[in-house]
Amino acid sequence: MKVTVIGAGNVGATCANVIAHQGYCNEVVLLDIKEGIAEGKALDIWQTAAVNSYNTRVKGVTNDYSATANSDVVVITSGLPRKPGMSRDDLISTNAGIVKSVTENVIKYSPNTILVIVSNPLDVMTYCAYLTAKLPANKVFGMAGILDTARYKAFLAEALNVSPLDIQAVLMGGHGDTMVPLPRYTTISGIPVTELIDKDRLHAIIERTKKGGGELVNLMGTSAWYAPGAAAAQMVQAILKDEKRIFPCCALLNGEYGLNNIYLGVPVKLGRKGIEEIITLDLNADEMKLLKASAEAVKEVMDVLDNMNVVA
Ligand code: NAI
Ligand code: 2OP
Repeated sequence: MKVTVIGAGNVGATCANVIAHQGYCNEVVLLDIKEGIAEGKALDIWQTAAVNSYNTRVKGVTNDYSATANSDVVVITSGLPRKPGMSRDDLISTNAGIVKSVTENVIKYSPNTILVIVSNPLDVMTYCAYLTAKLPANKVFGMAGILDTARYKAFLAEALNVSPLDIQAVLMGGHGDTMVPLPRYTTISGIPVTELIDKDRLHAIIERTKKGGGELVNLMGTSAWYAPGAAAAQMVQAILKDEKRIFPCCALLNGEYGLNNIYLGVPVKLGRKGIEEIITLDLNADEMKLLKASAEAVKEVMDVLDNMNVVA
């Protein structure tokens, strides 16, 4: 099996590194536009193979898409990250051009691949890749929900002094401040979270989760990479090992949740065909109101993309 990661920056290199460690792929190709960076990082990752006991061959290339030919999955991380004071949406004009051109090149060499988009603004860049690739929607989707849920689980684990492994949660909506964590669907080994934590502390955790990306941008001057890279790699593993795992991912909705023609975070089943099912939860009126508000925020940025005429 072969995976390509486009963009050998913080997130892309981390993702390639995690996929190599997972060990089920024969080959991981890392591609970047900056001369030498992908070659260097790939070589560095490959040189951990003997130490970390895996056989995945990791190769780096500068903008040579022929090396990506016949990839089973391509992860797109190329694009600018946020700086302090920027929202993810501020990145749209630059990143839309990058995501479009990268997607065109990827599809030339891997016409039947599955695309996992990471570049921000996530929901709209996934839409941009979908319009460009002209693949069925079950093969073009975005990573955000696993990351946002992982942050929520990390904060909860700390507050409750429990293992993050025992926390089950789902989070929906756009990858931004309007994302919708769902306490009603959060359990600690089956115990409803509301039985273990008071309302105010839970509310504070939800608010911190919504701004989790910004918290890291403020600390580091650029956005996060360990958790985003690992989250994208977890999606690749679920696809290529046909795991049928259920994760929140950014998927094209056509009627689900009463929403149409919009990319938004929802629970899906991931397997060898990509998104094999979109799961429709029985949201209550308050949850649905939050999801609709998040959808409206995403739709506004999708309209910006449509009006830019970047994608024909
Ligand atoms: P980075 O700046 O470290 O890496 C980006 C890489 O993309 C650079 O090496 C750059 O040379 C490369 N690149 C730019 N244009 C290219 C092109 N046309 N072809 C190939 N490579 C190109 O940025 P980082 O931190 O890796 O973030 C990447 C993207 O992922 C950003 O847009 C960021 O906002 C987004 N992100 C999304 C997350 C999510 O949850 N969906 C989480 C974290 C980051
Ligand atoms: C994050 O949530 C910036 O989207 C990126 O870390």
